[in-house]
Amino acid sequence: MRLPAVSWQDGKTDAILQVVLFKERYTSPWQSSCAKAGVIEGDEIVPNDRIAWAVDVLSPGASEEILEIGCGHGVAVTMVCDRLIDGRIVAVDRSATMIEAAKRRNAVHLAAGRARFHTAELASADLGEARFDKAYALRVGAFARKDPARELVVLARHLSPAGRLFLFHDEPGHSADDIARRLEAGIRCNAWTVKAVLTRRLDGCDVACVIALPPKPVAAAKR
Ligand SMILES: C[S@@+](CC[C@H](N)C(=O)[O-])C[C@H]1O[C@@H](n2cnc3c(N)ncnc32)[C@H](O)[C@@H]1O
Repeated sequence: MRLPAVSWQDGKTDAILQVVLFKERYTSPWQSSCAKAGVIEGDEIVPNDRIAWAVDVLSPGASEEILEIGCGHGVAVTMVCDRLIDGRIVAVDRSATMIEAAKRRNAVHLAAGRARFHTAELASADLGEARFDKAYALRVGAFARKDPARELVVLARHLSPAGRLFLFHDEPGHSADDIARRLEAGIRCNAWTVKAVLTRRLDGCDVACVIALPPKPVAAAKR
């Protein structure tokens, strides 16, 4: 399936974006086979299997409220929106440049009110009273490389009682099992429950997915 074209040429933001894309491609640890959000064909990004697999695992319901953390160019947002009818997605990214690109890519879904975008670091994001059925992150280092305590506090506050968190991660030179162990450690040490662990080899990378449930709220003490 072809996605709406992304214009790379017009305006200052696009010039910045080109530099970011260049840097991502040539300096990120994902610079080899599993480099990008998708394959750039002409002026389009065609999503790769890593993202398609993640959206399949996420399996967004038509009416669900969904949160993406670190949406980057918004490739997964497009694929989630394609499955929504009256559901909605909120996507946050700490990079204003990425949010600009994601908005441009998802202009139709943004105009329809199906997708909303916030430039924010998750740990300090103001998500108001929003409650999500599912939250997910793809390749966001905060969950794989350090203790994500601050991020998980925000997510526990904004997941609905039956809500679930889906963390997808891959890193060149690391097996899916190793990545899954790191994701699980961050989840467990913050009193969340690991519900499932999935691994796949896609686009030349080992990808791990951990599905987790937040801690149950402590019942108010009886007087
Ligand atoms: C490696 S890119 C992955 C982009 C996209 N999810 C993908 O898989 O192609 C990580 C993205 O997450 C964003 N990010 C990293 N940590 C974040 C945080 N704590 N809160 C919000 N965004 C974050 C970065 O700005 C970047 O756009």
